[in-house]
Parts: sequence; C-alpha cells; structure tokens
Amino acid sequence: MDILVIGTGYVGLVTGVCFAEVGHNVVCLDIDEEKIEKLNQGIVSIYEPGLQKLTKKNLNSGNLTFTTDYKKATEQTEVAFICVPTPSQDDGSANLEYLNKALDSFAEALDGYKLIIIKSTVPPGTSKHVETHLQNKLNSIGKGYEFDVVSNPEFLREGCAIHDCMNPDRIIVGCEKASIKTVIHNLYRPFGIKDDNILFMDHCSSEMTKYAANAMLATRISFMNELSGLCEKLGANIESIRKGIGSDSRIGSQFLYAGAGFGGSCFPKDIRALRAKAKHSNYKTPMLDAVEATNENQKKLIAKKIHSYFEKNGGVKGKTIAVWGISFKPNTDDIREAPSLDLIHELEAQGAVLRVYDPAAMDNAKSHLGSLRSITFCQDEYHAAEGADAIALITEWNHFKVTNLDEILSKMKGNALFDGRNQFCTNEMSKKGFNYFAIGIPKITI
Ligand SMILES: NC(=O)c1ccc[n+]([C@@H]2O[C@H](COP(=O)([O-])OP(=O)(O)OC[C@H]3O[C@@H](n4cnc5c(N)ncnc54)[C@H](O)[C@@H]3O)[C@@H](O)[C@H]2O)c1
Repeated sequence: MDILVIGTGYVGLVTGVCFAEVGHNVVCLDIDEEKIEKLNQGIVSIYEPGLQKLTKKNLNSGNLTFTTDYKKATEQTEVAFICVPTPSQDDGSANLEYLNKALDSFAEALDGYKLIIIKSTVPPGTSKHVETHLQNKLNSIGKGYEFDVVSNPEFLREGCAIHDCMNPDRIIVGCEKASIKTVIHNLYRPFGIKDDNILFMDHCSSEMTKYAANAMLATRISFMNELSGLCEKLGANIESIRKGIGSDSRIGSQFLYAGAGFGGSCFPKDIRALRAKAKHSNYKTPMLDAVEATNENQKKLIAKKIHSYFEKNGGVKGKTIAVWGISFKPNTDDIREAPSLDLIHELEAQGAVLRVYDPAAMDNAKSHLGSLRSITFCQDEYHAAEGADAIALITEWNHFKVTNLDEILSKMKGNALFDGRNQFCTNEMSKKGFNYFAIGIPKITI
C-alpha cells in the first residue's frame, strides 16, 4: 500500500521504516527541513538500535522516501499516519497544536479520499476532534473530499523500537467501519500478526487504552519505589522482594524495578494528560495523583542521599560528582524528562562540580546542559570518574555493568557510588572498597 507518515521522530521514523521494510511504499514527511535533508542522505539523527541500517536499506530499495512537501506526499498516498508530538501544556493536558497544524497542512494538500490514522498519543475523544477540525478546515477552503479517522496508538519502546514495531504483541485500533478494518488488516498482515491480535474497539476506548497501558506500567514502578523507601527503613531488600513477587504469575516480573524514578517523553506526560482529562471531567484520580507524586519524590532521592552523605564532610559544594547515564533509559539518546536532569540541576544548585557521561546521549546532553557553569562532558565513564568524590549511576546501560570498577576506584578521589538502578552487588562493591548506596537495599559495611 502507499502510506504517508506525518512526523518523522522516534515514532514516525520507526513506523515508516518498518512499513517500508515489510513491502509498503512509504513517504515520511516532516516540517524539519534539516532532518529531512539528512534522512534523504540516509543519515538518522536519533540513536535507535538498527534504525540507521534499516533506513538506508529501504531508502536504497526505493520503498522509502522523505519530504517536507505536503502536496507531493499527499498525492502519492491513500493512508496517512499522524505521528506528531503531543507534549504537556502548563495544566498537564496534551497540547494538540502540532496535531491541528498537521491536519491543516494535510487538508490544504488533499486531493481526494484519505484514511487518517492517529498514532500520536492523544486524549480520549481526540478522534472526534480530528474529524471536526479537518471537516471545518476543508469547508473553509471549499474542498468536499471525504475521509475517515482511525485511532491506532503506538506502543513501541525506545531502545528496541524496531523489534517492537516488527513484532507487535497486539495492534489497538479505534474503528467501527468494516471496510476500514480490511485496510487495517492489509496494513499489518505483513508483520505476521494474527488477525485476532488486531483488537478493534471504539475510538475513545482505543485512545484510552494507550493511557491505561502507560499508567499501569508507571504505577508498578511507583509502587516498587514506594516500597523501596520502606525497605530502607525496615532493613528489607527490594531486589529480593522484586524476585519474590515477580515470580508470581499473577504479578509477572516486568516494570518492578525500584530506581531513581521514571522519565522519558511518554510516562510523565501521559499521566499528566490523563489526570488533566479526568479533572476536566470532574473526576478524581487519587491513584494517578500518587503515582506522579511518588515519582517526583523518587527523582529527588539520589540528590538527597548525596546531600546527607556529604553533610558531615563540608557539604556538596565543591565536591566532584560523576554522573553515569543521562538518557531516560538505556539504548536511547532521548533525554526528555530524564531523572538525570533533575539530579544534575539539583547538584549544580548546591555547588557541585559535575562530570557527566552517557554512551549515546552526549549531543543531547550538551545542547540541554551546555550552559551550566561547572559541568564537564566526558569521553567515557573512566574519564568521568577522574577525581570524583562520588559517582551517581542514573541510567542502567549494560555498558556500565562491564566497567572495570577497580580502575574506576583508582581514578576517584573518594569512594562513594550511588546506584540509582541497583546494578551492582552490594557485597562485591563493599569488598572492592566502594561506599556503595543502592535503592531499597540494606547498606553493607565491611
Ligand atoms: N517516543 C516514544 O517512545 C513514543 C511511544 C509511543 C507513542 N509516542 C507518541 O507518539 C507521538 C510522537 O512522539 P515522538 O517521540 O516520535 O516525537 P518526536 O518529537 O520525536 O517527533 C515528532 C516529529 O513530528 C514533527 N512535526 C511536528 N509538527 C509537524 C507537522 N505539522 N507536520 C509534520 N511534522 C511535524 C517534528 O518535527 C518531529 O520530527 C507523541 O504523541 C508521543 O506521545 C511516543
């Protein structure tokens, strides 16, 4: 099929490339001219494992093209996926301005019937808004074309987005017309998904499913983070508890890791948007409120631990702290709402000297944090550890698990390691000579 993907970011580019990979003809469109110019040369400016190779392959085979030209792109396609951002507004609600602008440009370029598929995460009820907005725009410019709107939220995870897109567990589709269901089957069948795993429902439920999934996963994380604090008080070990409850098939083992809090471009904003939508509907959400509040506290935890560690030793001011990991999770360069940023800003405010390193997110880190007074962007974790009074590990890159910790310790001035992702064994770290602080794990002093 001929497909247009509007918005060529983490979701749109992966979607476009994967649809091209299974044999559809794909045009990816973005308003960012520099991005499209690079993509036309096969250069992907985000870090996502496998994406660069697959982009080049499909660009060369002719299945995939990139453009900024709505008119040209719209002429060639029958189905348009919308993958533009839906960031938070000040009141937490989703900002639909990017969506509205994309619809306006699309309407101006329209030359006949189209199927519009919304992949962006949008609040329940937005498909109706899209129908009205597009219809009003078409009326205002005197175009009488028909269209259909389908909700098809995206569930890919950054860091394994190609795998997720090529092997979907299920496809959620808000659509009630039989003829369109056939089109959806034709779009997704090449991925080998069973027809039964394409779940059709009404538009509002489809949109809500996306928020429900993210809210559920975030709830599990905040739940474990809350328990980890209690574990520290009571002397229990959150890692043992994770394994203990995760092996119960009713609970399952995923998203039960205590840590320095969740971040990224989805969980925080989607919880805010769902809370805002509920508030707008005069409905109370004490659980969602608590998930967000717990996470806000959790993101401050490592800074608090560092503060109390240095309290009796002249304070944080002037201390050198190495920060390992900036991205909000491993295998991505995405630093949107990353817990590392909260930590870095807090330590900087307290007068620390910062040495930061991330295996993939250094460019984003430099553009976001470059103006800070006392920050050094390091070449690797060894460089970051040089002269450090303490290390804070915030992103659980596998990379850090194979680091030579003896060499790290020899480069440090102090010996404290604050592990925001419980990556190391408490016993072993103490034996090596680290003053090791994990989350929800009793401290061992040898
Ligand atoms: N990133 C994820 O892991 C993920 C996962 C599932 C769902 N989502 C949702 O998908 C949507 C997109 O997220 P993302 O992370 O890919 O965002 P992104 O910021 O990486 O990419 C969005 C792209 O849209 C482009 N754009 C903005 N306005 C445009 C317009 N009028 N016309 C054409 N292009 C336009 C931007 O230039 C940008 O390249 C959001 O709603 C997000 O919540 C994201």
